[in-house]
Amino acid sequence: MTLTEIYEARIECGDLRADPGQHALLPDLESLRQWLEANAVRKIGLFAGLFARPVPSPKGIYLWGGVGRGKSMLMDLFYDSVAITAKRRVHFHAFMQEVQRGLHAARQTNVEDALTPVAEALTRDLRLLAFDEMQIGDIADAMIVGRLFEKLLAAGVVIVVTSNRVPDDLYKDGLNRNLFLPFIALLHARFQVRQLESPTDYRQHRLRGAQVYFHPAGKAGPAIGAIWRDLTGGAPGSPLALDVGGRTVELAHFANGVGRATFWELCARPLGPADYLAIAAEVRVLILEDIPQLSASNYNEAKRFVTLIDALYEAKVRLVASAADVPERLYIEGTGAFEFERTASRLREMQAADWGQ
Ligand SMILES: Nc1ncnc2c1ncn2[C@@H]1O[C@H](COP(=O)(O)OP(=O)(O)OP(=O)(O)O)[C@@H](O)[C@H]1O
Ligand SMILES: [Mg+2]
Repeated sequence: MTLTEIYEARIECGDLRADPGQHALLPDLESLRQWLEANAVRKIGLFAGLFARPVPSPKGIYLWGGVGRGKSMLMDLFYDSVAITAKRRVHFHAFMQEVQRGLHAARQTNVEDALTPVAEALTRDLRLLAFDEMQIGDIADAMIVGRLFEKLLAAGVVIVVTSNRVPDDLYKDGLNRNLFLPFIALLHARFQVRQLESPTDYRQHRLRGAQVYFHPAGKAGPAIGAIWRDLTGGAPGSPLALDVGGRTVELAHFANGVGRATFWELCARPLGPADYLAIAAEVRVLILEDIPQLSASNYNEAKRFVTLIDALYEAKVRLVASAADVPERLYIEGTGAFEFERTASRLREMQAADWGQ
């Protein structure tokens, strides 16, 4: 089946809604898929080396557009259907952390260019790299990503990228941005830059009108599990490590823009505003489970919870929560109970069907 046929079958069974913007991108993804399947093995044998030049790889695809438009869904549809084994799908942050660790190890060995062995290890047995959620936030990533892509492309790896930004807006207003401009030129030269033009934020759509605040928490497991499956396509989720000024803050489960953690993981550890801001900047939906009834002796946890909700509120992150009770009864005594009223009110507001739009 072609990708268009697979897509249409999913509409048929009610899994997806027909979207012309998504539909329009399928033929290009399909061509890439066919090329990859026909060229699964890089011909670098003796005869190939002597008599034939390696077949040049086609351009990759840089797919950009607004949040929730279905970029990751399309990438997964494509990735899952490409019948080759030499493929990898990565999340931008996790991948760059892996590269940074590799660079660190390579630098211990006096190699002239630490990126060379790292890229060699990455490209061994790799034909397709699906790169979800490219966003260049700091100078370290900005300086490495260009050279890394050059090496991957030189090794014949086909790259497919999703991003919320058009290439020219990547690392916008970043430090030393002029050093980053060659990477933007490379994206234009070596990728088909395609916008996913759809008016619908399907993530909002999926949560619209859905219950997102559950109490008591003990009974919420199945409903919350269903929301996770709906938003992530049932991905197992992996830990997401965020760099906050040199420290690492970990979110236990992350998949496709959705973070999932318990109250205790996020509010019973000594985290501060910078950590919560980093989390809020990274996730589109946060599933926060097991918010307890707080008392005067939980002052610190309550204070962190207020900070977390403020950060999510400001960043317009969608919150799905399970709690011991309704927002107004979570913290009724103890220092700061008065300020907590604002948090309770925000928790109410964030349950509205159109919150975050
Ligand atoms: N045509 C569609 N019909 C129904 N649901 C859809 C459709 N397209 C995408 N979705 C669902 O909407 C949600 C958001 O889609 P997806 O994660 O692919 O968006 P995205 O463009 O990658 O967003 P972001 O920029 O935040 O990463 C997912 O749960 C996805 O399965
Ligand atoms: Mg996405």
